[in-house]
Amino acid sequence: MSSGCEHMIEIQDLRKIYQMGQVEVKALDGVSLTIDKGEFIGIMGPSGSGKSTLLHLLGLLDDPTSGSIQIEGIDVSRLTDWERTMFRLYKLGYVFQDYALVPELTVKENICLPAMLRTDREEKDYIAATRDILHKIGLWDRRDHLQSELSGGQQQRVAIARAIVNTPDILFADEPCANLDTENSRMVLDLFKQINQEMQQTIVMVSHEDWHKEYFDRIVRLKDGKMVNGGR
Ligand SMILES: Nc1ncnc2c1ncn2[C@@H]1O[C@H](COP(=O)(O)OP(=O)(O)OP(=O)(O)O)[C@@H](O)[C@H]1O
Ligand SMILES: [Mg+2]
Repeated sequence: MSSGCEHMIEIQDLRKIYQMGQVEVKALDGVSLTIDKGEFIGIMGPSGSGKSTLLHLLGLLDDPTSGSIQIEGIDVSRLTDWERTMFRLYKLGYVFQDYALVPELTVKENICLPAMLRTDREEKDYIAATRDILHKIGLWDRRDHLQSELSGGQQQRVAIARAIVNTPDILFADEPCANLDTENSRMVLDLFKQINQEMQQTIVMVSHEDWHKEYFDRIVRLKDGKMVNGGR
């Protein structure tokens, strides 16, 4: 299935149009872009410019109206629903602004969860991975706590840990600091940067906070569904 293409992600003329009664909303209006392995990309732009739409399409959480998406040389439009689900489970990781942890599970259990869904991971291997990640995010002491016993910043670090436990090829994050103060935002962004540098982790992050741009290798700037900067 691979074409031998070296880009991690390659999209061409991507469009997403919502039909709202008589009105067409062009959420994404012809975006072309390549992203390479190890890049830390920031998707920036004003509210309503199409940032989340682009991230959802790249993360295979939604389908484009037209245009193509290749990830690691695979044309993802050719995947069946089941292959798509497996593609997400085996290759992609996600962090959202509301953390999306399972409230009944402990920190440790939340982090293990995506690894438990995979048939190729043994218990002793993901328990060891979870232990290492708990140390990396500085929450080893909180491993048996519930979400309700953690601060927002701590919850987001757990969500990041869960997103990387399967060492995804691409990590997607949609405004992961939206509900955090500056100090906690820095801690979360520093963690993303550390993961990016130590593991050459490819990261695509949506943000609308101008000061976040110092963290990104490249900024893709959107306006009215079009890319106004940062493409290649
Ligand atoms: N499900 C939907 N149905 C109709 N219109 C939608 C839908 N989702 C998004 N849109 C519209 O598409 C445009 C882009 O939305 P999107 O959520 O991608 O913006 P955004 O840049 O992430 O904004 P924000 O910074 O506020 O999160 C907006 O005009 C929005 O109203
Ligand atoms: Mg958004």
